[in-house]
Amino acid sequence: MSDQAGYGLLKGKKGIIFGALDERSIAWRIALACKREGADFVLSNAPIALRLGALNALSEETDAPIFPCDVSKEEEVEELMQKTKEHLGGVDFILHAIGMSPNIRKKVPYNDLNYHWMNQTLDISAISLHKILKYAEKTEVINDGASVVALSFIGAQRIFSKYSDMNDAKALLESIARNYGSRLADRGIRVNTVSQAPTETSAGTGIKGFDVMFTFAEKIAPLGNPTADDCADYCVTLFSDLTRKVTMQNLYHDGGFVTSGISEEMAQGLLKLYADEE
Ligand SMILES: NC(=O)c1ccc[n+]([C@@H]2O[C@H](COP(=O)([O-])OP(=O)(O)OC[C@H]3O[C@@H](n4cnc5c(N)ncnc54)[C@H](O)[C@@H]3O)[C@@H](O)[C@H]2O)c1
Repeated sequence: MSDQAGYGLLKGKKGIIFGALDERSIAWRIALACKREGADFVLSNAPIALRLGALNALSEETDAPIFPCDVSKEEEVEELMQKTKEHLGGVDFILHAIGMSPNIRKKVPYNDLNYHWMNQTLDISAISLHKILKYAEKTEVINDGASVVALSFIGAQRIFSKYSDMNDAKALLESIARNYGSRLADRGIRVNTVSQAPTETSAGTGIKGFDVMFTFAEKIAPLGNPTADDCADYCVTLFSDLTRKVTMQNLYHDGGFVTSGISEEMAQGLLKLYADEE
């Protein structure tokens, strides 16, 4: 969708957007799309990420304040929710776009994981969703009828060897979304995960073998890989009032990859490869 045109789908809505690091971040693209659709929000990221300074540009462009929060620190999550309440009153949507694995960063093989780092992976990438929802409820900043979206990856269901302990983190993230979704449903609050295809971002390209995962998905998915901007448009629909009965789902946003076997293009390529070998 173009940068300017919008449908006003989020007019009057307020939210919290976690995880915008730089222009390529999926959360960055979602923030722009939410602004285009008329929302007001606060931006949050870990203090160490804010030191890069890139987020200031998004803050100015979207007129959104930045509230630092390292989601591994419970007290910071609570403080963020309180500050958001003071600033916005209540929120109608929350985006969780947070992921980090020290084991992947340090290229540790799965069968030799450092467990301290694995705990950090699970804590930052998955348990943080639990903390965010817990303090959003406790501080009463989350409004009835709100929509919560966390970004996931198909590694939760299928093995992608290079995705290492992030596969486990995404499985936990999706489980927390379902469990919390069932507990918040009496307030009309929905909690879903969006399973996005490989996307060229700082976290994505930081994975060794990302290019192969990206190309594989691109060749298999009938519609091809969706971009971060495509993901942003999809998330807008989930934050809007048009999806009020969708909850506790893991929603694939992958151009049809999840239900595809092999594409004709890939089949022909493999046949040619084997013919050349013979
Ligand atoms: N890029 C992909 O291929 C892809 C595919 C599917 C899902 N996702 C998911 O999308 C989400 C966003 O990732 P992205 O690809 O836009 O990359 P990104 O690097 O732009 O975003 C990851 C964010 O997590 C933040 N973060 C890390 N540790 C934190 C902490 N302790 N407290 C608060 N924030 C912290 C980082 O600062 C960063 O902003 C992640 O959950 C990722 O797993 C990405």
